[in-house]
Formats: sequence, structure tokens, C-alpha cells
Amino acid sequence: MIGCGDISALHLGAIEDLDGIELVGVCDVDPDAAARAGEANGVPSFTDHRALLEELRPDVVHICTPHDQHVPVAIDALDAGADVLTEKPLAASLAEAERLVAHAEASAQRIGVCFQNRYNATSIAMKELLDSGRLGRVIGGSATVKWARTPEYYRAKPWRGTWENSGGGLLINQAIHTIDLLEWLLGPVSAVAGHAANHVFGDIIEVEDTAELVLTHEGGVRSVMYATNANAVNEPVSIVIAAENATLSMRGDLTVTWADGTVETVAERRLEGARAYWGASHVELIRDFYATRGSGEPFWISPREAMKPLRIPKEVYAQSPGMRG
Ligand SMILES: NC(=O)c1ccc[n+]([C@@H]2O[C@H](COP(=O)([O-])OP(=O)(O)OC[C@H]3O[C@@H](n4cnc5c(N)ncnc54)[C@H](O)[C@@H]3O)[C@@H](O)[C@H]2O)c1
Repeated sequence: MIGCGDISALHLGAIEDLDGIELVGVCDVDPDAAARAGEANGVPSFTDHRALLEELRPDVVHICTPHDQHVPVAIDALDAGADVLTEKPLAASLAEAERLVAHAEASAQRIGVCFQNRYNATSIAMKELLDSGRLGRVIGGSATVKWARTPEYYRAKPWRGTWENSGGGLLINQAIHTIDLLEWLLGPVSAVAGHAANHVFGDIIEVEDTAELVLTHEGGVRSVMYATNANAVNEPVSIVIAAENATLSMRGDLTVTWADGTVETVAERRLEGARAYWGASHVELIRDFYATRGSGEPFWISPREAMKPLRIPKEVYAQSPGMRG
């Protein structure tokens, strides 16, 4: 485990819950965080990932570092003969992301990116319905991400508010999951129009806290999205897809309303506790990553696949005055 901050808890929990996976070591550049994680898990701790790679020779490395620290760590881990599971986004910059795509595709090792919401029961149900053809012609989609982040969220981990370390704000850090789902469900995005702004955290972060965007998918279907970290509460993400034969409406659970009035629902798994908005599917993605390791195939959410949702925030920044992108 490289990077022992907030999200590492979900990875560590999954590793503990899944059979056949043994945690062998942890690393964090913050010596206190490294020591705490080492003690809590009864494994050696390191403050330099290269020392961990050399000493422990792990089979798999989980990367839970800030965005600008995904690519350098991933490349070192692949070169040390480890498979890699890295948190989203692929990188803070497109140039770094492209460097990793090239390196990964030339490597014998396998690398996956944590877009765990593709494993949500509702996402899988929507994908299956769309692929089945039962919905008829797709008319369009929409999504909202209305979450609450506090000044303390950014002050506690200042990297989250900087272009250099994070590569963006709400879009690249939070809404990227929903951007990824829209593209996965409705097809490759051929055009992006949007606007990002810093409405409420102006003196605390450089990056955006709110954005609206219009995506045109290949074939002409359009999806629209509104996302903000300035909401008062964390509401469930919503996705609506209108099609000829039914409307799919996901907000927590999925409701499928067919043209003849029939209504079906698909319940979502729930994560208990304060961070329920992260979703409950990390463990599913991690299980699948390990289960398919021997297949000889690349992991399906590969660096190349993870480039797609990274390009979209970057295009929105380029269109937004005052955003550096
Ligand atoms: N998939 C999800 O739903 C989800 C949710 C939250 C966060 N994340 C992602 O997880 C990653 C980490 O986010 P977080 O909120 O846990 O951040 P965090 O700041 O809480 O933790 C990051 C940790 O990495 C350490 N670190 C920094 N550079 C390092 C390096 N080179 N080597 C080793 N350790 C290093 C920091 O000291 C810190 O302890 C980000 O990519 C974020 O986008 C994903």
C-alpha cells in the first residue's frame, strides 16, 4: 500500500476481507502516517516507495497517493515487477497520463484504475439494459453530483486544492466517477462544452468547486451534467437516461420506468458510515482485479480506458476563464 491517507482504509479493508491476499507492507512519505499504518496492520512501513519495492518485492501495489504521485509510483512499481492498482484519476496532467499509458502498454505487468462505481449494482444494470437493445433508441442523459466539502477538507490535505498536485478540483477528483459512467454507458465522448468555477472556496483552493458540462457522445446522443462541492449536504449522485422504450433513473437505487407504465427497481449496495458517498464497490473492483490477474489479459479499466474521463475535465478547464487546466 503506497499512500496511507483517507482512501487507503477502503483498500486495506478489502485486502483484509478478501481471501488469498496478504498485506506485506505500507508506505507513506509522512513518517507518522507510515508508522501508524504499519503498526495498525502489523507490517513493515516505509517512507520511500522504492525502498518498499526493493525490500519486499510485492506482487501487487495499491497506489492511494495524491494525483501527481500516481504516475511516478506506478512506473517504478511496474518496473519492479509488480502489478498495480491505482486510484483515480490516472494522473494530474494529460502529459503524465500519456506517459503511463505508454509505459503500461510496454510492460509485462498489469495495471488497473479504481473507477469502482462501474461495479455498482445500478451501473451494471443500466449497462446491461443499454447493451441488450431492449431500451430502443437512446434519447439522452443527465447527471448531478451535489456534494458538500468544507474548508477543512481542503486545509487538512492542501494538495486537493492545487493545480500542480491535483490537476483540478471537483471535476477531476469527485465528478470524474460520474463522467466516467456517462461515457461508459452512452459511448465515447466526441465533443465537450462546459464551464468550471470557484464559487465558494476562492481563498482556500486554486481549483474549481462547481461545474456544468454538455457531452456529445459518438452518434450524436447528448448528456448534460451539473456538479458541485458547494452543496450543503452529500446527496446521492443521480443519472437519468431517457430512451424510446424506458427511462432509467438512478439516485441511490435505480428505477426503470417502461413506456407501458411498468416500473422495475434495482437496489444499490450501501456503504455504512460518514463516507457513504464513496459507494460500496471498491471491494468488488479489488476482488475482480485479483481474480483476473492470472488471465493474461489487461485489466479492463486500464490506463488507456482511464484516459477518457481525464480528458473531459481538462477540456472544461481550457474553456473556463481563470482555470489553468
Ligand atoms: N475511488 C474513490 O472513490 C476515491 C475516494 C477518495 C479518494 N480517492 C483517491 O485516492 C487518492 C488519495 O486520496 P486521499 O483522499 O486518500 O488523500 P490523502 O491526502 O488522505 O492521502 C494521501 C496520502 O499519500 C501520501 N503520499 C503523498 N505522496 C506520496 C508518495 N510519493 N509516496 C507515498 N505516499 C505519498 C500522503 O502523505 C498521504 O498520507 C487520490 O487519488 C484520490 O482521488 C478515490
